[in-house]
Order: sequence, then structure tokens, then C-alpha cells
Amino acid sequence: MKYNIALLKGDGIGPEIVDSAVAVMKKTAEKFGHSFVFTEYPIGGYAIDNCGEPLPKDTVEGCLASDSVLLGAVGGPKWDELSGDMRPEKALLGIRAALGLYTNLRPAKLYPALKDASPLRSDIVSQGFDIMIVRELTGGIYFGERGYRQGKYGEEAFDTEAYSVMEIERIGRAAFDAAMKRSKRVASIDKANVLETSRLWRKTMHALAAEYPEVEYRDVLVDNAAMQLVRDPKQFDVIVTSNMFGDILSDEASQITGSIGMLASASLGDGKRGMYEPIHGSAPDIAGQDKANPIATILSAAMMLRYSFGLSAEADCIEKAVDSVLENGWRTADIMGSAEGDPLGCTQMTEKVLEAL
Ligand code: IPM
Ligand code: MG
Repeated sequence: MKYNIALLKGDGIGPEIVDSAVAVMKKTAEKFGHSFVFTEYPIGGYAIDNCGEPLPKDTVEGCLASDSVLLGAVGGPKWDELSGDMRPEKALLGIRAALGLYTNLRPAKLYPALKDASPLRSDIVSQGFDIMIVRELTGGIYFGERGYRQGKYGEEAFDTEAYSVMEIERIGRAAFDAAMKRSKRVASIDKANVLETSRLWRKTMHALAAEYPEVEYRDVLVDNAAMQLVRDPKQFDVIVTSNMFGDILSDEASQITGSIGMLASASLGDGKRGMYEPIHGSAPDIAGQDKANPIATILSAAMMLRYSFGLSAEADCIEKAVDSVLENGWRTADIMGSAEGDPLGCTQMTEKVLEAL
């Protein structure tokens, strides 16, 4: 089969890690007799510098015409002083909205080979954990009305959170469906003791839970969830939550795995097209030095094959190659933990994965 893939390399280490994933996808295509056609489009700071805006129209159109999208990372200190609408991050929100990608899947699993790198105590880590965060991605406070006005104390800024039943229901369904393929547990995270949006969220989730009697469902308040994640992460399987809570909790969940450089993500909508990206950012401090860990992007490519193209054997093959590289002790700098020897660079790590494939 032939698939058209849009590449959004972006900023910082984005180009290096996307190149790694492309090499792995090409090799996989060869092995299984597929053809992946890659087309690059500018995004983020790179697009600001070269096209005068973070998300050019051609980029959106190119992504809409593709079968799926692979993104590196956007942003960096060079563009930090720009105003809200011109920031590289705006491109990320824009492309998520333009492609209708309301479901963000962020798996945070502990790799046994890397558990030394987790900041959690070893008695907690030794029990392992494998969490799937399902974050709502195109609504809530990220996309609500915002601005400046005169308030009680003079000029003030405001952002608003709004959620419709439809938006809560569709992300809820994504979470329950994901749970049915895993250990059938859903924790819905909200702030229903304070926020009206959370009360509607909770009511809508309860109605959905009744449709999935096999799934063990519970509500957790967000502050408690933040605490439980470091106290006893194993209690969670699927977590479903709003855009902003998901943003915050997914960073926490990824950090406790000790290997944020390993974690992939998928953003999905109603169709097959998705956008796949590593969870980590653009790491400007190590950009262009061939030090980045390409594994999160390689695993994001595997997620694309599985979720967008239905190529599970191909995805398994990539994931197994990564596992075997780690089991053989190969490490990039970020996942060295207490390992001995010199870390591999981005190119060397990519070579190891290609060999394992
Ligand atoms: C993420 C990032 C983005 C977000 C930023 C860069 C806009 O933190 O993907 O988690 O907040 O969604
Ligand atoms: Mg974030």
C-alpha cells in the first residue's frame, strides 16, 4: 500500500528526530512491501523565520491532503518574546484544530530496562505502571474566549473554559473504547468541587459509564490525581481529562517514567488521519549536536502505522526493535541512569534500531 505522510520537522531537535523516524519507516516499508511518500511542510519558529507566520496555509492544506502527519517539535528561546498569535506554540493549537484532532493519546509506561532513571522511589517503581492519558485536545480553556478588560482592580486578562456535552461525550468514548482494549479501568479527572464545566464533565461521563458496564469507572479530583500519580501510579490505567488538566498531568506522568525521551503520542479525530509526535519538546540546548534521543519519534511513527494505517504487524516490529536495542544496553544520554560507558548519539541510536529491524 501507498501512504502519503506530511512531515512537520519544526524547531530545535525536531529535524534530527524526524529524520530518524523517517529512516525507520523507510526500512519498515521495504521489509513489508509498502510505499511511504514523505512531504515536508514548515511549522513553528522555522515557519516564522521563513514564511512570516507559525502555521502557513500551505502547511494546513498539505496536512489535510495527507494520510497522516508526523511532527517533531516546535518552539525555542529565539521566538519567546513574540506575541501570543505569533508564537510557535500557536501553530500546534492551530494544526490540532484544523485537523479536528480532539483526542490526544499519551501513553506513559515504565520501561523495566530504564526504571533506574525514574525519580520515584524504587519500591514504587518496582511495581511498574502503564498509563494511557486521554486528553481532550481542541476545547476547554485553550480555545475559549480570552482577552483584556477593565475589572475590579483595573486592567485584567481573562481566559474562559467551556465544554459542550458533545465534546465531553466524544472524548469520553475514546477513553472507554481505549480501556476496553486494555485493563478496563477509567479514571476521569476533573475539579467538580469548584468548576461548573467539571460538573457537566462528570455528569456526562457517568452517563457514558453506564454504557460500558465492563469498565471500572471512577472520578478523581485533579489535585488528588496529581498526588496519586507520584504516590501510587500503578492504580491508573486509562485517565481521561480536559485539555489543560491533561497538559499538566501528562508531563507529570511522563516524568515519573524517567524517560520522557521515549514517550510517543497520537492526536486523533473522527477519520483515520492523525498527528503523531514525541511528548518531549524541541530541546534547543542540544539541537544540532546529534545528542537527541530519537526513540519517542520512532515510537510515534509506530503509533501512526497502528492507528492511522492499521498496520499492526509493522508497528509491532518497530516496537520490538526498540525493546531489543534497550535490552542490549544501548542508551542515549537522557536514559543513561547509572549505566556505564559513552551514550549513543541520535544517528548511532537510529542505526541500532535499523539493525534490530
Ligand atoms: C503539549 C504542549 C503544548 C500544549 C504547548 C506547546 C502549546 O505543552 O503538547 O503538551 O500545551 O498543548
Ligand atoms: Mg504540555
